[in-house]
Amino acid sequence: MTRFPAGFLWGAATSAYQIEGSPLADGAGESNWHRFAHTPGRTANGETGDVACDHYRRAAADVSLLGDLGLGAYRFSVSWSRVIPEGRGASNAKGIGFYDRLVDSLLSAGIRPVLTLYHWDLPAALEDQGGWLNRDIAGWFADYANVVARALGGRVALWATLNEPWVVSDAGYLHGVHPPGHQTAAEVPWASHNLLRAHGAAVRAIRAEGAAQVGIVVNLEPKYPASERPADRAATARAEAYMNCQFLDPVLLGAYPELLAEVFGADWPLFPPEDMSLIGEPIDFLGVNYYTRSVTEDAPRSPPVRAGRKRQDANPHTALDWEVYPQGLTDVLVWAQDRYGPIPLYLTENGAAFDDPPTASGPVMDDPLRVAYLRDHLRAAHAALEQGVDLRGYFAWSLLDNFEWAEGFSRRFGLYHVDFTTQQRTPKASARFYREVIQSNGAALDHGAGSRAEGR
Ligand code: FCB
Repeated sequence: MTRFPAGFLWGAATSAYQIEGSPLADGAGESNWHRFAHTPGRTANGETGDVACDHYRRAAADVSLLGDLGLGAYRFSVSWSRVIPEGRGASNAKGIGFYDRLVDSLLSAGIRPVLTLYHWDLPAALEDQGGWLNRDIAGWFADYANVVARALGGRVALWATLNEPWVVSDAGYLHGVHPPGHQTAAEVPWASHNLLRAHGAAVRAIRAEGAAQVGIVVNLEPKYPASERPADRAATARAEAYMNCQFLDPVLLGAYPELLAEVFGADWPLFPPEDMSLIGEPIDFLGVNYYTRSVTEDAPRSPPVRAGRKRQDANPHTALDWEVYPQGLTDVLVWAQDRYGPIPLYLTENGAAFDDPPTASGPVMDDPLRVAYLRDHLRAAHAALEQGVDLRGYFAWSLLDNFEWAEGFSRRFGLYHVDFTTQQRTPKASARFYREVIQSNGAALDHGAGSRAEGR
């Protein structure tokens, strides 16, 4: 029988730029994503977050969707440039007001607010001053954290400083597919290091405003060697150090993985040693985002990590070509607990993009592949609990179909279908399924087939 512990937090997640729209409303400053999406060639079909899910104007109705799901928690992010339009200096009461009302309406619906301070949208004015490459950003971020903590303080259940800092430095500074669009390996360790310093400074700033549960959200992808060849095993170790340990080791173990010096070679900096105590400021929980795994092989021609993903053709893949591999979720949670010791864990994102049509027909839209994905991953999360992992909650990505960054609107992850022409929200079968899981605290997972049998 599948039962989750009493008090297990059932949630759904979104982020500001992906759903809000109205990016410049009420005195907000421009963000790096606004600028990037408006730069020709940067996003699929030139799509932008100008309207997205129009959540900025429809937040009250969207909170009632959360209520319909029976959720206990909602993870959202705050847009830094709404709160402090220039990134530093004067704050904007109207921008803060939006989140203030959102938090209140969540609380009156009995839903616990889970807030992320940085889900990738940086004030463009700070990008112009070097963004994550400028050491001063730790102080700017702490000041921003302090403004938000002062405004929302005791009403927020969990505070996450950063969402997936690995993506910020890897996609933004190594591959150039996210802002600032750089492709300079030597910048990566510095961007990562300043993200970590900003995280530590924000933890202190939030705590200074009173008792709070503060943590960080990382994306973990367990790495399995493609073969027993020493070269593949070494590549797997490099990939694991780079993606899974680059941020967590400094935060939770006090030092970078040694392999990073090998990965970056001459580009690996000598960081000021005193930075490590700021980065290692104790945290209350760890948020893990899980979507897929990587079967890893040596790739000498892709520096600096020289590791590649070997596609597993026998397994199903999502519309983003991410392998569906639920066992990886159990494995990575167990791995995190083994490596980092006892710390409360939350699965802060998990979900799948499948090719749902742009227009929904009928009152509920069928999405059997997403239902199967959720069922199998929730079972995998439960398996981790059975193996002793201190998992406290699960957040489905995402409440709504939304702006999937450089992929634009075609990659639909929502429990609710969004018709981007009419802004009509339609529940998908996965929303109904998730509601049953929540209502039964897991028992609904005991019925139904696995992903192979369903829809494929
Ligand atoms: C994660 C991001 C989230 C969303 C999902 C699909 O990496 O945190 O914003 O794009 O992937």
